[in-house]
Parts: sequence; structure tokens; C-alpha cells
Amino acid sequence: MTEVMELERIQHIDTSRADQAVLLEIRDLSISLRLSERKLVEKVNLTLKRGEMLGLAGESGSGKSLTALAVLGLLPPELYVAEGSIMLNGKKITCLSEKELRVLRGREIGYIFQHYQGSFTPFIKIGKQLVEAIRSHFELTKKEAKEKALMWLNRVQLPAERIFGSYPHQLSGGQLQRASLASALMLEPSLIIADEPTTALDVLAGEAILDLFAQLQHDLYCSVLLISHDLKHLLKRTDSMAVMYGGQIVEKGLTDTIKNRSIHPYTKLLLNARPVLSREQPKELTAIPGDPGLVAGDGCSFALRCPLAFEQCRSVPALEEAEILHFAACHAACDRRHE
Ligand SMILES: Nc1ncnc2c1ncn2[C@@H]1O[C@H](COP(=O)(O)OP(=O)(O)OP(=O)(O)O)[C@@H](O)[C@H]1O
Ligand code: SF4
Ligand SMILES: [Mg+2]
Repeated sequence: MTEVMELERIQHIDTSRADQAVLLEIRDLSISLRLSERKLVEKVNLTLKRGEMLGLAGESGSGKSLTALAVLGLLPPELYVAEGSIMLNGKKITCLSEKELRVLRGREIGYIFQHYQGSFTPFIKIGKQLVEAIRSHFELTKKEAKEKALMWLNRVQLPAERIFGSYPHQLSGGQLQRASLASALMLEPSLIIADEPTTALDVLAGEAILDLFAQLQHDLYCSVLLISHDLKHLLKRTDSMAVMYGGQIVEKGLTDTIKNRSIHPYTKLLLNARPVLSREQPKELTAIPGDPGLVAGDGCSFALRCPLAFEQCRSVPALEEAEILHFAACHAACDRRHE
């Protein structure tokens, strides 16, 4: 298939006919340490539809990456899925063997990590690695795989021929992250997990890559789980969002709802802690009280840092639907709903 034909095929994926069926369904996912049985992620429920971008927010240590690693079947050996299930395209992936998961990773689930250096083996040229990845998932000749790799390097706006013949260390951070974007997208997965993909880059390079990513995601009509502790990225690009604290989801809903009508005190503090560029009087930034990761042993996990904590917060708040498609786990928020 020529480059032009390949481009046409991708650009003509008929998104009008594609249904908005659920692609990824995480149900009651809990992840524990094998030795102590301590839960690091607890009862996480998330749904991602086809073509949708779902954002996962929360401070460091809130359980975002572990949730993503569980979807990829890449939890480290000392951790395990203690409860719950993960369904991708109707297939229960929490039951798959490592061999089956290896087939799934790359072809059905693409991933882009924070440490983009890890996407490539240091001593093998980028092109050779891309060609091998393509040929392990598609029945293509070396020449066809090379054409496909070059086309994707082009699509992520890199000087394709030069990057193809380079070793990973010869690329800048931004170029490497673009190359890992190409490497994830070229296998045309239905789901891409991007875990802090721009944290290691400067602001402008990071913004440009996320914009490019959003454009390509739209063209390919794939679903994305975008993880970031930077709300700015998520508010700008995602369709829906979930906010995690202490291994649990404390609020989730459509991104516009979270932006304009958040009800959980933690989400509100996260929103107020972000700088907003405005012509009007600059907004005063509020720091979130207490240390990130300070989790109360009993009751609401956010109680030790919450300015609204009250007697009832000694018991664990359930994640309840405060309005259609908008959920929060907070006694104060649920009281407000009943007013
Ligand atoms: N292999 C491990 N063994 C023990 N604890 C772990 C392990 N991996 C993660 N944790 C703990 O699990 C919790 C959630 O970790 P996770 O990496 O998912 O956080 P995160 O939200 O991705 O944070 P960050 O924004 O810093 O990437 C943290 O308290 C972390 O210390
Ligand atoms: S349940 Fe209580 S402590 Fe937890 S966030 Fe709501 S008000 Fe704050
Ligand atoms: Mg992480």
C-alpha cells in the first residue's frame, strides 16, 4: 500500500457510522500489595467510549499510573488486581495470560509514557525498531513496513528519513516523544493510554505534542486515557474526566461539568490551584492545604486536608450521582444535592 493510499484509508475512517459504544470498562478495580494486602487503588470505576478522550487527574501518588498499568497488564510483580474487572471491547482482559496481553499491547492498546526514553531500546536505530514493531503486528514486507514507519514519522511532523536512521540518543526530548507517539499510533490501536506524556518537556513543546496528539486521535477515532496532574491539559482536551485521591475516584463527569460545576472540595482546590491567563484581575491562587498523598486512615480519604471536614466525614462517602453523569464522593456534596 502506498503512503498516499494509507493516508487516505486513515483519513476516511467513517466516524459518522462508528457507534459511541463503550470500549473500555473498568469495574470496581482494586490493586493491592501482595505482601501486606494494603490497597493502593480501591473500587475504581471508569468507562471510556469509542472516539472519546477521558482524563485522569490527581496529585502525585493518587493511583493514576497503577490504574493505567492494570489496563495494560503491566503491574509490577509485587502488586496485583485484588478485585474487579477490566473489559476492552467486550473482552475481559483481567483474565488474559501474559502471552495474550503481549498481543493486545501495541495492537489494541497503545501507550505513551512519561519517560519517553523507555519507548525505544537505546542501541537500535529508531527506524529498525519501528519496522520490527509494525511487522510483529501486520503482515507486511520490510519495504512496506518502512513506508508505513516513514509515513507515521511524517505525520508526527518529524524529518522522517533522518529520524528513521537515528539512534534514540541522537533525538531531542520533543523528537523522541513525537517518535513514541508515531510508534503508538502506527499500530492503529483502539485505545491509547498516555501517562503524563509531556511532563519531561518544556511547556511549548508539551502543548504542541498534545495538540498534535488530539488531532491524530480525532482523525483515527481512537479512544484515549490521558493521565496528567496538570488540569490545564485535561480541561482543554478531554471529553470527560475523573479525579483521583488516595487511590479512589472522588469525582467524575463530563469535562465541562467538572470545569464549571465541580462539587468535591478536592477538585475545587485543584481547579483553584491552577494559574488561569485572563485580561481581568489575576485570580489569586490557592494552595491545597496539607501534603499531597496525606490520606486519612478512616472515613473520607481527603478529611485531613479538607477545609469542609465535619463529623460525618469519619465514615467513607460513597461515589454518588449528584446530577446526570456527574458523580462525587463527599458527604458535603451529597448534602448539597438534597437541599
Ligand atoms: N511497586 C510499588 N510498590 C509499592 N507501592 C507502590 C508501587 N507502585 C506504586 N506504589 C504506590 O501506589 C500509590 C499510587 O501510585 P501511582 O504511581 O499510581 O501514583 P500516580 O497518581 O501515578 O502519581 P504520579 O503523579 O507521581 O505519577 C503511591 O502511593 C505509590 O507510592
Ligand atoms: S466527605 Fe467530608 S472530608 Fe471528605 S471531601 Fe467531603 S467534606 Fe471533605
Ligand atoms: Mg504516575
